Amino acid sequence: MWPFPRVIAHRGGGTLAPENTLAGLRCGLAHGYRAVEFDVMLAADGVPVLMHDPAFGRTVPGIGNVAETSAALLAGMDAGSWFGPQFAGEPVPDFAQVVGFCHREGIWMNVEIKPSPGFAAETGRAAAALLKQMLAQQADARLADDASMPLPLFSSFSPEALMAARDIAPDIPRGLLIGHVPDDWQARLEQVGAMALHTNHKNLKQEQAQAIKAAGYGLFCYTVDDPEAARRLLDWGVDAFCTDRIDLIGPDFAG
Ligand code: G3P
Ligand code: MG
Repeated sequence: MWPFPRVIAHRGGGTLAPENTLAGLRCGLAHGYRAVEFDVMLAADGVPVLMHDPAFGRTVPGIGNVAETSAALLAGMDAGSWFGPQFAGEPVPDFAQVVGFCHREGIWMNVEIKPSPGFAAETGRAAAALLKQMLAQQADARLADDASMPLPLFSSFSPEALMAARDIAPDIPRGLLIGHVPDDWQARLEQVGAMALHTNHKNLKQEQAQAIKAAGYGLFCYTVDDPEAARRLLDWGVDAFCTDRIDLIGPDFAG
């Protein structure tokens, strides 16, 4: 029912490396993680890049917006120093680079489509077009160890972005992110053709988990950093979760 990994490194390397960077992915790998969540946003020239915040100031210095900055300029920005001097100069990677890295290293991807305000459909389309093309190239290359790798999973808080991704790449599965599970959760999943619901574990109730699983959907929780909480969620039937504490919770954590 859940063909994907159970434990996923959040934003690359969780709290151990700068989020949404190749350094983060390498850190996850060094901790044995071959499953990753990251955030994809559009640069001004329509190139999808890895970024969580639409505005600069937290993970890249300065004032400005991702949607008004080209991918080339973003690649020259420092997305590492905020985290620590050893990561100074770590660039903002574009999505294609990261997909290439994950394909080479055998890392499964939960691609969160994270549109800047006003760019939901455009971001969903661009992410889906790029991923579809790179998956086709990878299938052509027929690397020996590809056979066991499940398809990536798109997720988003934006139904519009997910519907746009579905229009371009209907075969890439989708999960709908919702902070609190609403009463009409099933109608919302059906609207975007999602196979899974992704939710904040802090707001999830056991009865909701059971209902979602009983209806045949996947259930994914973010962001679970406490092994006790992780155990409880798995007991409730939660299929998978992402974690920032890849040092506390290993990739083979089974509850
Ligand atoms: O995809 C799960 C989680 O990453 C959603 O929240 O804000 O960390 O992207 P956020
Ligand atoms: Mg995310």
